[in-house]
Amino acid sequence: MNLKAITIRRTRQADLIDAFTLVMNTANHLRRKRGMSTTRIKKLKQPPSLLVHMLKTDPEGSFVAVDKTGKLVGFSMALIREEEWYLAFLFVDPTLQSKGLGQKLLGKAMRYGKKNGCKRWALVTFSYNPQAIAVYSKMGMPPQRPLLTMERKRDDDKSFKKLRSPIKLTVTKITEEKYINRLTSLDRRARQLARPEEHFFWLADENYDTLIFHDGKKLVGYAVVNSRGMIAPVVASEPKYLVSLLAHAVEWGVAQGHKFQIMFVQGEQLEVIRMLTAAGFHIDEATLLMASEQVSDPKLYIPATLAHF
Ligand SMILES: CC(C)(COP(=O)(O)OP(=O)(O)OC[C@H]1O[C@@H](n2cnc3c(N)ncnc32)[C@H](O)[C@@H]1OP(=O)(O)O)[C@@H](O)C(=O)NCCC(=O)NCCS
Repeated sequence: MNLKAITIRRTRQADLIDAFTLVMNTANHLRRKRGMSTTRIKKLKQPPSLLVHMLKTDPEGSFVAVDKTGKLVGFSMALIREEEWYLAFLFVDPTLQSKGLGQKLLGKAMRYGKKNGCKRWALVTFSYNPQAIAVYSKMGMPPQRPLLTMERKRDDDKSFKKLRSPIKLTVTKITEEKYINRLTSLDRRARQLARPEEHFFWLADENYDTLIFHDGKKLVGYAVVNSRGMIAPVVASEPKYLVSLLAHAVEWGVAQGHKFQIMFVQGEQLEVIRMLTAAGFHIDEATLLMASEQVSDPKLYIPATLAHF
């Protein structure tokens, strides 16, 4: 198909189910090509709440490409938090790849960042897609850091291996927005930006538990645990607490009945990788943080989803 038959326009909320389906199908196509196992795709009745949240915070940063029949064949979504531009998604239908559409969608998403004065540029992509790595490197975002997707599953009649926290901390689930300033100051050191938008979203969505941790009276970090098994992010005030925060957050998920758990670990987090593998987590895949410069301190930070790090 000729690209002249393709229209690019801003994403609307009504596009989000098709956009997410495109993301999943295209990722599976890539995985199949590489001989990897694919993800089962459920038919959605509603768009994922994270996508709705991202489109609400950044309505001018997301674009869809549509063909003459109205079919969605491309999707990009970028977020701006302080001076950082972050690409949450860039996907082109496999039948239309390598014709320039991806770079067009990326160009539009980057224009949104330039217009708003962004100084740092970042995203996560598949380590097994050299084409994507090439596109982003050319645009000033070379590979910075490997990330490991680590997962474990259990059968109904089995239990998970327990994680032991080296430092015993008090865990409190919070629901009130009065904590956001404290969470945001932890983010500033660990993630190198403030993102109250995400805290409002996590606190309001019943699928996410925001946990704060104290060592005695001292606040030493927070973690977000979702009901589907994702433990992301985990944020520490000091390096010595990171492993303990993670162990407590994983055990919180176990107590909520998780049968599956997943998190995204930064390559140099050796102590974390060792603790997780000993507890039955395996590495499902490696992805790459591509960025104009580093965007977090790996001694303090285990990322949120790859769509917003
Ligand atoms: C990655 C993706 C978005 C790119 O979109 P696309 O429309 O296929 O790509 P384009 O045709 O716009 O651009 C590809 C560019 O990469 C270059 N390229 C491809 N493979 C390359 C390689 N191995 N080394 C160097 N350059 C390479 C091409 O030459 C082209 O650049 P050019 O126009 O200067 O010649 C698309 O292929 C896709 O959806 N892939 C699967 C999902 C994915 O990986 N998404 C990224 C997740 S963040």
